[in-house]
Amino acid sequence: MKKRSSRHRHLFECSSMLQSQLRTHQFQLMSFHDYKTYSRPWLQTCKCQRAESVGGITTGDGNGSRLVNDVETSNLVGNVTSAKHILEFDDVQAQQLKQEKEVLASNVTNGAITDSFDTIGLNSIEEEAWDLLRESVVYYCGNPIGTIAAKDPTSSNVLNYDQVFIRDFIPSGIAFLLKGEHDIVRNFILYTLQLQSWEKTMDCHSPGQGLMPASFKVRTVPLDGDDSATEEVLDPDFGEAAIGRVAPVDSGLWWIILLRAYGKCSGDLSVQERVDVQTGIKMILRLCLADGFDMFPTLLVTDGSCMIDRRMGIHGHPLEIQALFYSALRCAREMLTPEDGSADLIRALNNRLVALSFHIREYYWIDLKKLNEIYRYKTEEYSYDAVNKFNIYPDQISPWLVEWMPNKGGYLIGNLQPAHMDFRFFSLGNLWSVVNSLATVEQSHAILDLIEAKWSDLVAEMPLKICYPALDGQEWQIITGSDPKNTPWSYHNAGSWPTLLWQLTVACIKMKRTHIAAKAVEIAERRISRDRWPEYYDTKRSRFIGKQSRLYQTWSIAGYLVAKLLLADPSKANILITEEDSELVNALISANPRGKRGRKSMKQTYIV
Ligand code: GLC
Repeated sequence: MKKRSSRHRHLFECSSMLQSQLRTHQFQLMSFHDYKTYSRPWLQTCKCQRAESVGGITTGDGNGSRLVNDVETSNLVGNVTSAKHILEFDDVQAQQLKQEKEVLASNVTNGAITDSFDTIGLNSIEEEAWDLLRESVVYYCGNPIGTIAAKDPTSSNVLNYDQVFIRDFIPSGIAFLLKGEHDIVRNFILYTLQLQSWEKTMDCHSPGQGLMPASFKVRTVPLDGDDSATEEVLDPDFGEAAIGRVAPVDSGLWWIILLRAYGKCSGDLSVQERVDVQTGIKMILRLCLADGFDMFPTLLVTDGSCMIDRRMGIHGHPLEIQALFYSALRCAREMLTPEDGSADLIRALNNRLVALSFHIREYYWIDLKKLNEIYRYKTEEYSYDAVNKFNIYPDQISPWLVEWMPNKGGYLIGNLQPAHMDFRFFSLGNLWSVVNSLATVEQSHAILDLIEAKWSDLVAEMPLKICYPALDGQEWQIITGSDPKNTPWSYHNAGSWPTLLWQLTVACIKMKRTHIAAKAVEIAERRISRDRWPEYYDTKRSRFIGKQSRLYQTWSIAGYLVAKLLLADPSKANILITEEDSELVNALISANPRGKRGRKSMKQTYIV
């Protein structure tokens, strides 16, 4: 009850009116008790206002602090045209020029591009990508705050592709960070934070406090009582309007990952240290760490709660969410400022990190050896020492997997539930487990070995399959509900998504096997621009532009750019990587439940 009453609704509006004669600008912020006015020379008048529509606000709790800090958010909006920014802009341009020259030079000396004609071709793909990425930028009160999901001139039905999706913005944000353009990312972080505790319901039910929206839109609406003026309003979607009403569990996790990357890349730690940002991190963590009925340390979610936002049989404990969850915990631990009230939260976070990494490394991992173990599993074991803890029936091992598993290599399975292993290979979950060290070093190499061994299936003519293999026949009917958009080898059902190039690149850089990513980028470059940057490709060998694929999909563009920028300077990938944590390894050794059960022959620590 107390929580509910302290919940408040934000209405963050920005009014704008062209005033071409009067070249002054009034910027107003109204909070409960704060009222500030700034002047700046500009064409637009922008009035930011915030109103409390529900209940009172408890000072002293997290939400109270956030309101005070909104002043800073708005200061940020008010400062964009200051002289300081103009200077910074010049610096950035000079830096960009230098960087571009260096990239060119290193490409040539690497022997990656030998032919000057090719060089020009590749540069023009990158230039085109930058132009398109900049065109996709969305402004709020005159400030860049995100990128639209797709800007497809050939599609009449925009659905929600005209919105800024949190997950889609991540590669855009990283591309801008790597280019030295930090403002858009800072704005994105702070404005999406404003949306975090927005009161949204679906049929009278509200999602948990701390949930970040899947997407938001900047709407321009007429200002009440003034025909000559409009106002801009941020309108979030927490899944209550999304196709299938899916909950965006990944949004908050990505938000934390981007926040850390912003701090590491820009050197500006003041954003993560803000009270409202710290509160935002804690709200996400509390939501994820809340006790439930669960027996496993993995995060329990509904179907379609991540990049695959459709019914695809990924409910329960899908790998992608676990990998992002693990990253978010690691990143949050780095950023949380110690204070009395957060000791319990940090303890819970540390315990979860240990349990989660043990669980994933031990039970999600498969390779030929493990597969053979499963094949010989005894079932119906009632004991603490059961080998087959989840009562997996060996018959579940599908014939495709026996053929497909290479001698060298392995991967983390898609999902694990009692009596059920989803053996499909999911690219994002596996790659991100490499990036954040959820997978051990040996497992990480094995994942890349598998990608190399299964290149013609996973990369084929366009990187990278979202998952492998496709659901087919009766399985497709039952699991997808006969979804005509997710037919075999299409869209989420084993379609190929160029955006995954950037995650592949970070994973390869971490394991010092960049040549794998470079090869994939080269394959993408053969078609991606000519095909007009599709959202996804169809068919087993990714030969066709996806049936209902958007063209000029922003995260295909941004994913390519991030891959290129990182390949040109692999050290920059550090803003996304978390290395193996030695404290965690020690904790894993002592907490190993196998050890506790007294299996004396187990000298090995935690790797399956
Ligand atoms: C599709 C994708 C989702 C993405 C959205 C916008 O729904 O499945 O991951 O965020 O499009 O591009």
